[in-house]
Amino acid sequence: MKVLSQAVFLRAAGRPGDLPPPGAPEIAFAGRSNVGKSSALNALTGRKALARTSKTPGRTQTINFYGLGDAGLLVDLPGYGYARVPQALRAKWGELVGSYVRSRASLVGVVVLVDARHPLTPLDRQLLGWLGEARKLVLLAKADKLSRLAQQQTLRAVGAQLPRDEVMLFSSVTGLGVEACRDLLEGWLAAGRENKRPPVKGI
Ligand code: GTP
Ligand code: MG
Repeated sequence: MKVLSQAVFLRAAGRPGDLPPPGAPEIAFAGRSNVGKSSALNALTGRKALARTSKTPGRTQTINFYGLGDAGLLVDLPGYGYARVPQALRAKWGELVGSYVRSRASLVGVVVLVDARHPLTPLDRQLLGWLGEARKLVLLAKADKLSRLAQQQTLRAVGAQLPRDEVMLFSSVTGLGVEACRDLLEGWLAAGRENKRPPVKGI
């Protein structure tokens, strides 16, 4: 059985104290509110309703952990930078996600979703900077909304701006990039289990 299709919901953490102890290798999904993180998790695991998705930004407000048997975990992070979220909730987001990303020993990489139609907004760059040296895969999400030509142009432009990161076109609706993304993430998890870091692109 493919590793990612084994995903089962394990736990939701609403406060740093709720995080499970670090263990098997973890891959987190980050990005602006409504960019399609939960939908990507569902597409990658082949499970339509594993993670809750919504038309309303701000759906996911806890850090949700999904187990992959012995292979590792996938982690759905709350969306970043939704303007209408009250200030108190934003502060809570920073505290929760910040403490997770900065200190999580078992985190082997972060999948960062950016909207393929407006990639690398100031908020996206802030998030990327904030993730620092973490291994990243940047998904150009909702790529189905672009023409084939615009997809290729965007892929080239973003790839040139992020030479150290993997960049892929992705659509949870059409399945574009799903298989390639799955293969890469399975490689990260396998390397994490062997405690080896996979080679960083561009070095
Ligand atoms: P938060 O949890 O609020 O941060 O949002 P999220 O990033 O988890 O987004 P979610 O997966 O809930 O999707 C948000 C909206 O975008 C939903 O209406 C989805 O149906 C839509 N959507 C997600 N992925 C795609 C995609 O690949 N293509 C298109 N066209 N729409 C998508
Ligand atoms: Mg979500």
